Amino acid sequence: MTIAERTRSEPDLSPLFEPLTIRGVTVPNRLAMAPMTRSFCPDNLPGDDVVGYYQRRAEGETGLVVTEAIGTDHPAAVGDTGLGEANLPLFRGQDTIDAWARVVKAVHPTGAKIIPQLWHQGPMRMPNADAPAFSPSGLYGDPEKAADYYVEKAKIMAAADMPLPTDEEIADVVDGFGRAAAQAMAAGFDGLALHGAHGYLIDSFLWRETNRRADRWGGDAVARTTFAVEVVKACRRAIGEDKPLLFRFSQWKQQDFRARLADTPHALEAILGPLSDAGVDLFDASVRYFNTPAFPDVSNLSLAGWAKKLTGKLSGAVGGIGFSKGMYDTMSSSSGGANNMPILLQRFAAGEFDLVSIGRALLHDPHWIRKARRGENLPAFDPESLTRLT
Ligand SMILES: Cc1cc2nc3c(=O)[nH]c(=O)nc-3n(C[C@H](O)[C@H](O)[C@H](O)COP(=O)(O)O)c2cc1C
Repeated sequence: MTIAERTRSEPDLSPLFEPLTIRGVTVPNRLAMAPMTRSFCPDNLPGDDVVGYYQRRAEGETGLVVTEAIGTDHPAAVGDTGLGEANLPLFRGQDTIDAWARVVKAVHPTGAKIIPQLWHQGPMRMPNADAPAFSPSGLYGDPEKAADYYVEKAKIMAAADMPLPTDEEIADVVDGFGRAAAQAMAAGFDGLALHGAHGYLIDSFLWRETNRRADRWGGDAVARTTFAVEVVKACRRAIGEDKPLLFRFSQWKQQDFRARLADTPHALEAILGPLSDAGVDLFDASVRYFNTPAFPDVSNLSLAGWAKKLTGKLSGAVGGIGFSKGMYDTMSSSSGGANNMPILLQRFAAGEFDLVSIGRALLHDPHWIRKARRGENLPAFDPESLTRLT
């Protein structure tokens, strides 16, 4: 094949290299690094290895780095998720601000923007002596529905004693999100992402299985958004009017991959509408395969497409980009590299989403974006890469 022929057959990724303005911040391109917990933060602090890890991804043409989930300022926010050693970061005071400021300073000279993902694990935490796990109705979900590799851990989490939180305790958790958001700003981050997915605390308020409350925090789908709305408002107050606020949501839960937050677009609107009104700028729709139709009876539109259509806000796609298999299908086995960029580009051109997040491909290879841009063979995913910071 001549060079000219090879160039013609490469997918033209240039539309993904257009800048995107989210509120007062312009991201240089549409390619984001998806939030990925790495458990390399002993004493809850990112060290030099973590600084270098994010810097390399930013140098590799990532437009927006979304960090691994960082715990909010609340005693029950993070612990062992049951997936191995914890070593999870959190925002709790000047040491944590200083440590993340070093990451931000390493990323900014590349031109990339960087935002932290905030999480409170809620019911998804192995019992420990520090603080009981926190769940709106003291529930974990049905552990028998968890994935095979996780079911034994799920049974332990489900059996843990989780007291029913009072109004005051819930307000304290909301404040913890606000305090963490303020610390993120003090560290110099460009905005904020909230983890409202996968069965962790925010999602456990949204999900009818774990939220059976009959007070202002529970009830129908709109009432179950009350907690998330309060969190969004607290974070918006902390970050100001110019910084972008991203919100990740998902149908699936780690407690149950088949779970659905919303069975119809109308039900999804009941959840995303109040969040949009509260100040979310971009909905990050977490799915395992970015092009799966969210409501196949209605249309071919992906979950990110629906989030955009229903709220009029920006949306982000993620899941399986560059791979033949989705994330949970490769926890213990490899996935072949697959150039599914043409399908991605088609949907992007149709206006289905505005941002594209890359997870395992970037975890595995900091130069993945450049390889994809050049149409090179995309590497397979090696689960061994989970064990180190390349
Ligand atoms: C090791 C690992 C850790 C992850 N940690 C998080 C996390 O902290 N927060 C989150 O929202 N998603 C997390 N995810 C999900 C990713 O953000 C992403 O949605 C998922 O990997 C699908 O994208 P991919 O197919 O490109 O890998 C994690 C994924 C992996 C592989």
